[in-house]
Amino acid sequence: MTHVFLLVAMFPSAAVERDAHSFANPRHVVVRHAELDLQIDFAEKVIRGDATLTIERTSADRKQPLVLDTRGLAIQFAETSDDGKVFAKAEFTLDKEVPILGSALRVPLNDKTRYVRIRYATGPNSTALQWLSPGQTAGKKQPYLFTQSQAIDARTWIPIQDTPGVRLTYSARIRTPNELLAVMSAGNDPGRKRTGDYRFEMKQPIPAYLLALAVGDLEFRKLGPRTGVYAEPSVVGKAAAEFVELEEMVRACEKLYGPYRWDRYDVLVMPPSFPFGGMENPRLTFASPTVLAGDKSLVSLLAHELAHSWSGNLVTNATWRDFWLNEGFTVYLERRIMESVYGRARADAEAVLGRRSLERELADLPKQDQILHIDLTGRQPVDGLTDVPYEKGALFLKHLEAVYGRPKLDAFLKGYFEHFAFRSITTAEFALYLDEHLLKGDAVKAKAAKVEEWLHQPGLPSDAPNPTADDLKKAEQAARDYAAGKVATAALPVKNWSPQQWLHFLNSLPGDLKPGLMKLLDERFHLTATGNSEVLFQWLLLSIKHRHAPADDRLEAFLTEQGRRKFLMPLYSELMKSPEGKERALTIYAKARPLYHPVSVESIDAIVGWKKEER
Ligand code: BES
Ligand code: ZN
Repeated sequence: MTHVFLLVAMFPSAAVERDAHSFANPRHVVVRHAELDLQIDFAEKVIRGDATLTIERTSADRKQPLVLDTRGLAIQFAETSDDGKVFAKAEFTLDKEVPILGSALRVPLNDKTRYVRIRYATGPNSTALQWLSPGQTAGKKQPYLFTQSQAIDARTWIPIQDTPGVRLTYSARIRTPNELLAVMSAGNDPGRKRTGDYRFEMKQPIPAYLLALAVGDLEFRKLGPRTGVYAEPSVVGKAAAEFVELEEMVRACEKLYGPYRWDRYDVLVMPPSFPFGGMENPRLTFASPTVLAGDKSLVSLLAHELAHSWSGNLVTNATWRDFWLNEGFTVYLERRIMESVYGRARADAEAVLGRRSLERELADLPKQDQILHIDLTGRQPVDGLTDVPYEKGALFLKHLEAVYGRPKLDAFLKGYFEHFAFRSITTAEFALYLDEHLLKGDAVKAKAAKVEEWLHQPGLPSDAPNPTADDLKKAEQAARDYAAGKVATAALPVKNWSPQQWLHFLNSLPGDLKPGLMKLLDERFHLTATGNSEVLFQWLLLSIKHRHAPADDRLEAFLTEQGRRKFLMPLYSELMKSPEGKERALTIYAKARPLYHPVSVESIDAIVGWKKEER
């Protein structure tokens, strides 16, 4: 019980924790269901329509209006109804826009109001939407639209309680040009004909950040009984070949952590400008085409997004402070899936790469941002998108595994997913549950678990797990010997090296190799020409550091052909470090900027100091 006491001390305000990134008032009124009726207008680049929300009172205070999050939406009218049939206009108010958060939309309610309908249109700066011209797609013939709602951008295409602490079901009618297909984070019928008029149902309650839509020239390929892949016609074959083990991955995770609770699991391969590697939209993961390496070497990304079907989508972070509950658990599950399907060596190698990457990031991250239960008040939630929630979070679970053993931790996790299924929880709620179901009863082990230190202290505890992988050790040694001039390029033991070994080799090279060594590597191993996006990314970073000119064209191509934030941000940052690099960065960015997703644009603008007036 000392633990419970400690926990209360750790989270003095646990009972009243609120989401610093939402105006919504779920303690008084909560949205349980959204019925969307939306028209997708490619000519005007606008979504127009109605969101009809089913609400419920959660307090006795009847004076409270419904408060919704919006950003940049044009609200045409709001109306309310008691029975869902007869609606009357409501005198809504739209607050002045606040940076980052947008404008609160307040709709007065009477005693019996159960439905609120908002008629609205999206604005030109909707950061959730990317409208692609035909030229920006693989097929070059049809336009494409997709949404990216996480973390707080759902409010830029739907007026909604945009906090992960609120869950809702939804149904949607989506009208598009006839020849395009619409898919959503909901039930998608793989055999669906293209009609331009599509209906969707999501019967499980989800947070707003998991609302997702994509419209384009999409084709479906079946992979397993409940798995498949959507992509543009010219991409779908390659994607299906890369993802053959998808069904097996689902089974592997079910075996460990209980049934997959979402019916189908499909993957949509996105256009190259997709700003993330993957997004766990329920039933339909969105994945960057940069994972299509041709040799399945980057499919851990699928394991990751699939794992979110348990950690994240089933049990959800209640606020963005608790983001590590989503991502740390997911990285841990991802590696367990990888171990089941591809073996221990592969999972270990990826764990080593993860820890290495975390160490590098910790080296120049402010202390307060090294904490799992991070404070993001006044900042964009994506500012918390570092290796800390991901890799430090996963190491915490690995540490619990080391203390309690796999069988115990697995049983705990399975019970956790079952207990909190379809709920959103805070770090404090997790800690209480952990105490009750794992720590309690063995004070020695509970002390060794170091929960307070893991959740609330910067850096890593001294006994944090330090994964090792033999084949990576060899790559690391090779990098050291090569940098020291002890082995020639021809003598490097690269035969049968996995992409993970290559990554580790490149990661382990110093930033100041002797002149000529980059060139020799490139001539022998053609790294500038690699088709593996992660290897290419590491190579290009090194190339910028070493002014390796033969990679210049490929760097420019990579920065204009794909839009993943994780690749763009470090490359632009590295370029900005020298005057010539800065010049190049700005020239490339001027060309590439119109091709990037608004979320990537926001981040890169800040890195290169972009100002509208200047160019
Ligand atoms: N949910 C995240 C992506 C995300 C996080 C988008 C926060 C917006 C805000 C997704 O599951 C993710 O973590 N993607 C990673 C890949 C993964 C293998 C680590 C990415 O996109 O790089
Ligand atoms: Zn994730």
